[in-house]
Amino acid sequence: MSDIKAPGDIDRLTQAVLDQVQGDSARVNELLSALITHLHAFVREARPTPQEWRYGLDFLARAGAFCTPERHEFILLSDLVGLSALVDALNNAGPDAMTPTTVEGPFHNPAPPRELGAIIATGSEWERGGWTVLHGRVLDTHGAPVPGARIDVWQSDDRGFYDVQDDAQDTGNLRGLFTADADGAYWVRTVRPSSYPVPVDGAGGELLRAMNRHPMRPAHIHTQVLAPGYRPLTTHLFVAGDQYLDSDAAWGVRDGLVLEFTRNSEAADIERFDVPGPFFDVCFDFVLVAED
Ligand code: BEZ
Ligand code: FE
Repeated sequence: MSDIKAPGDIDRLTQAVLDQVQGDSARVNELLSALITHLHAFVREARPTPQEWRYGLDFLARAGAFCTPERHEFILLSDLVGLSALVDALNNAGPDAMTPTTVEGPFHNPAPPRELGAIIATGSEWERGGWTVLHGRVLDTHGAPVPGARIDVWQSDDRGFYDVQDDAQDTGNLRGLFTADADGAYWVRTVRPSSYPVPVDGAGGELLRAMNRHPMRPAHIHTQVLAPGYRPLTTHLFVAGDQYLDSDAAWGVRDGLVLEFTRNSEAADIERFDVPGPFFDVCFDFVLVAED
């Protein structure tokens, strides 16, 4: 049995633990070894007391207790400390022409398939937030259309709630799975989203309060675009002018994803998009990168 008492022995502890990482998968060994190395370095640097360490472990246990099939508190924690943004950025670099990706967030659930142009708001959001038409095309980096691309759209209502957070909304409200036409074109009728706070009743809220940080995300619509032969594109479309664009709690804002929601009162467009009156017009082309 090892008898680690002297500081010199403790110096050897990290390597002793690393020597025990001998799984069958080289990649798992690599990930575990890096994690153990950095966690040991963290403890050596910050020197938590036993009480502080226990607080940290209890914090993780509290996060776990908050998780349900509809709510993943660890995704939220990863978002709040910028780790989701870092994983996304390191895995999704691409040519300048590509639509920037950003974090997926914890509220992506299966969306009901809908016809092009369908209204995804089934509730009374219209009176509060205002009609919005999101339209454009799915293209490759050479400008060619990607017919049949699947565009998964999800968003909060104009008070900032997703269907899974709000008993007043039907399941599938403000969600839709669309299929681009032969020209790669798509269109969606929806409601203008608003900025909203991430959930603060769990471990994520505890973390934000410890940092004295606000919980707000700038208004956005989530999208995920999938097409065979192309890299999946998970991103957001942000509303230009939102007061939280510079301080997003989830670190998700990227250049090229902040769009004007332009007020459109043109009679021809009102008729073309079959909306009852002036609406917010958002035109956006998604640009996909071919898989290697
Ligand atoms: C969201 O946009 O749905 C979201 C992203 C990160 C944390 C919480 C919510
Ligand atoms: Fe969101």
